Amino acid sequence: MAEQTPLSLVVLISGRGSNLRAILDAIASGRLPATVSAVISSNTTASGLEYARSNNIDILALDPADYPERIQYDRALQGLIERFSPDLVVLAGFMRVLSAEFVQHFRARLINIHPSLLPAFRGLHTHRKVLEAGATEHGASVHFVTEKLDGGPVIAQAQVPILADDTAETLAARVLEQEHRLYVQVIHWIAEGRIRCEGEQVLFDEQPLQQPRQLYTPAEQ
Ligand code: GRF
Repeated sequence: MAEQTPLSLVVLISGRGSNLRAILDAIASGRLPATVSAVISSNTTASGLEYARSNNIDILALDPADYPERIQYDRALQGLIERFSPDLVVLAGFMRVLSAEFVQHFRARLINIHPSLLPAFRGLHTHRKVLEAGATEHGASVHFVTEKLDGGPVIAQAQVPILADDTAETLAARVLEQEHRLYVQVIHWIAEGRIRCEGEQVLFDEQPLQQPRQLYTPAEQ
């Protein structure tokens, strides 16, 4: 059988880059049929850049301070990404709101990971908000990006329990562990051609997805 061409990714980060690391580690260990063509950061000192550099990946930083208008930044970013003609653009802790023009350009090949069970708790500081709200469950979601902030069609989620003595930090750490599994799994499905987006609809094996796929912990599978 012919070898499947690996899915080419451009990953966008702004900071720590632990999701990027999970993706690179999955590729290096042969668990993910993908290649990272470039990592682009909105922050020139993002610690995530170091790991990419040590993996011999092209790294680029695009500093918002160099662009007075958001649209100028987004156009420069779009041009930079397109140099690599990626199959998929992966937002992994990229801390910028993207313009409609950018989102439309990459529609259906732009995904994001968000630390909540969307549509609950969009925006920042989700772990603190979840605890303040007394929610009984929490987790992470991977979704296609649309113009609506954290509002694009959700592909899959991983849930985590909330423990009685959880702080925002302990909860964040438990969610992050699941984010790493979840992001690798979703990119794997996309690499296999099992997931695609048509308008606001996610198709899984060509069937409209009624609910986000749930990623269970190994003990539950
Ligand atoms: C993650 O919690 C992700 O869900 C959110 O930003 C954080 C990035 O973490 N969008 P890292 O940089 O991947 O470690």
